[in-house]
Amino acid sequence: MSASPDLRPATEVRPSSAVAIDISAVRRDFPILSRQVHGRPLVYLDNAASSQKPRAVIEAERSLYEEYYANVHRGVHTLSMASTDAYEAARSKAQRFLNAGSPREIIFTRGTTEAINLVAATFGRSRVRAGDEVLVSGLEHHSNIVPWQMVCEEKGARLRAAPINDDGEIVLDELAKRLTTRTRILALAHVSNALGTVNPVAQIIEMAHARGVPVLLDGAQAAPHVEVDVQALGCDFYAFSGHKIYGPSGIGVLYGKASLLEEMPPYQGGGDMILSVSFEKTTYNELPYKFEAGTPNIAGVVGLGAALDWVGGIGLDRIAAHEHGLLEQGTRRLQEVPGLKIIGTARDKVAVLSFVVEGVHPHDMGTVLDYEGVAVRTGHHCAQPVMERFGVPATTRASLAVYNTKEEIDVLVEGIQKAREMFA
Ligand code: ALA
Repeated sequence: MSASPDLRPATEVRPSSAVAIDISAVRRDFPILSRQVHGRPLVYLDNAASSQKPRAVIEAERSLYEEYYANVHRGVHTLSMASTDAYEAARSKAQRFLNAGSPREIIFTRGTTEAINLVAATFGRSRVRAGDEVLVSGLEHHSNIVPWQMVCEEKGARLRAAPINDDGEIVLDELAKRLTTRTRILALAHVSNALGTVNPVAQIIEMAHARGVPVLLDGAQAAPHVEVDVQALGCDFYAFSGHKIYGPSGIGVLYGKASLLEEMPPYQGGGDMILSVSFEKTTYNELPYKFEAGTPNIAGVVGLGAALDWVGGIGLDRIAAHEHGLLEQGTRRLQEVPGLKIIGTARDKVAVLSFVVEGVHPHDMGTVLDYEGVAVRTGHHCAQPVMERFGVPATTRASLAVYNTKEEIDVLVEGIQKAREMFA
């Protein structure tokens, strides 16, 4: 076992998308997938809530704690320097993952929620004034609504939402109408957690920028499934979470354009975010440290770096192709179930299957499925405006990842049939 961190970059030579993924090998990377639940093999279909972790991630954290752990940016001793190197290597991995121009534009946060709160509390609070508007869409997660609502309440501004159609797609004409001279920021999900819709973000960013409106993308549900290139997109901010992309929980990334991050006030005060402190005045640290007050989640960052390497080793194009095959099969199979309605039928979707079944409450559905070993999420998915738009209080949501199989879709459908026989 080596006593120093893995500083190698994420895989540069990507496997060809023409080569199918060896799913058995992928599954062997995830120890938890071999366990049973209620005497049945685990079928884990709750990946939009949080995905499982490959050995590489578990091992990266173990090796940090057993071999070279110390605080970062603070010591001249060997362990502190090794931890700092691993921490900063992970920042470079995140930079390459998003194709950001510089590691200065990568800020580690607790997750997507904290990343959005950071932007709302700094960029938002310094730019939004009474009478201004903040624009979101009708398919947002609460974490991309509430932080903006808080800023708007404080400033006397207005939160507006672009509506979605019956398929769960943003109505672009309506979004365009809401991009006005008063709009200070457009905050938008790249992919909807409740519906799976992939928004046409390149087109939307162009529309917003043409009107001088900066754009934040909530990439929590996109980063594990679609390739992201923040420079090609031109977005101003991009946020994603480690725990949905096979990494640890409690860690996430905020990308911000350096020019914007430079002008933003700090988010939190404390150690590491300063250059000098006296009782009269504090000079803030340079990017990205200005936004990373206090001892960070060192193990989380190192684990995230390992997760990004693991994803890069397979290739997001191959992951997307595999998941798309499952989405097609799953959609077809669910449509065969009498009384089942899929909520979220956008043309461009990731592998999220949200549905309601006549006569079966989603919580009962979730419980029956659990007894079959199948883990799904039931409820409003932290997206109550979406539920309201579709006139349902809750759905059952199966959300897929690279390690899921066609056989697991069959187990899901058999479980749904069982719940229908019991309740409908
Ligand atoms: N945002 C996560 C979900 O959609 C927790 O389930």
